[in-house]
Amino acid sequence: MPRPAENLLTGFIQAFHRDDAAIRAELVAGLLAEHAAVHPKFLYDPLGSKLFEAICELPEYYPTRMEAAIFARHLPALADVVGAGITLIDLGAGNCAKAARLFDALMPRQYVPVDISVEFLREAVAQIRQRHPELPVTGVGLDFSQSLELPDAVGRTRRLFFYPGSSIGNFTPGQALAFLRRMCAACHDEGGEGGGLLIGVDLVKEKRVLDAAYDDALGVTAAFNLNLLQHLNTLLGADFDLRDWRHRGFFNAAESCVEMHLEARRDVEVAWLDGRRRFAEGERIHTESSYKYTRDGFLRMLEEAGFVAPRTWTDERGWFMVCHARASH
Ligand code: AVI
Repeated sequence: MPRPAENLLTGFIQAFHRDDAAIRAELVAGLLAEHAAVHPKFLYDPLGSKLFEAICELPEYYPTRMEAAIFARHLPALADVVGAGITLIDLGAGNCAKAARLFDALMPRQYVPVDISVEFLREAVAQIRQRHPELPVTGVGLDFSQSLELPDAVGRTRRLFFYPGSSIGNFTPGQALAFLRRMCAACHDEGGEGGGLLIGVDLVKEKRVLDAAYDDALGVTAAFNLNLLQHLNTLLGADFDLRDWRHRGFFNAAESCVEMHLEARRDVEVAWLDGRRRFAEGERIHTESSYKYTRDGFLRMLEEAGFVAPRTWTDERGWFMVCHARASH
């Protein structure tokens, strides 16, 4: 942990430490499982993060644009609902651009961007502090999927968790409920003023639209998915040959989720420092699930997690939803 003076100087607190051995053990267990799987967080090495930014520009990938349009259109109403004097906690803040668009309307008393990509976030915090010198900013390097334990420098009064981009969809519904419960508990406010959640949620829609959004014509999503193998080569000293694999991305309506897989084009054997595995032609590695909710289904989950008084805003076609709710205690 840095000394407090360092935090004051940089506006940044490193609240977790990368455990490389644990990461390798997790990856190997996933590769050796009967149905091989790798956690989607490993999609985001530096190149993967850039490819994701490119995905957000694709004509087929509607969520980013649609969410931005909903915020732009309903910002005054949203500011009314949220109220004054919040501590804005931005989960998975990245370059902080989404939250920065809300500053003028929400006027937070403190801005707390949180991300696991520490170096990227440090830079983003430095820029935000330059552009908004009047706003107290405390960046926190944290794997918030594991813990929402925030440092003491983060205010407890009127916390608003901001979780845009429908990232909640990358948890299974069970994990999503547990995560929402943790957010609700982390809103606990000694002053009794209560906190809340502002979240973006992708809604169920036609399979054709979802298939295209996760398997675009330009092949950017395919590159994003295949880049995971390159990342595994770096992390594990593995010898995946990307030409042996193809991207699969499709909506599984029965599970209400888009699945991404990497599929072996032929029989292959992959080796890493202390292990190996054969993959038969057509065998897959599951790399991501992106669950899609109905409005009512998501509101039920919010209520179960302890949130109350939900307000929702959607686009005309009902493809994407922005939702605010208050923590019940
Ligand atoms: C970050 N997350 C919400 C994206 C999604 O839509 O599930 C990741 C993504 N995967 C493929 N395209 C975008």
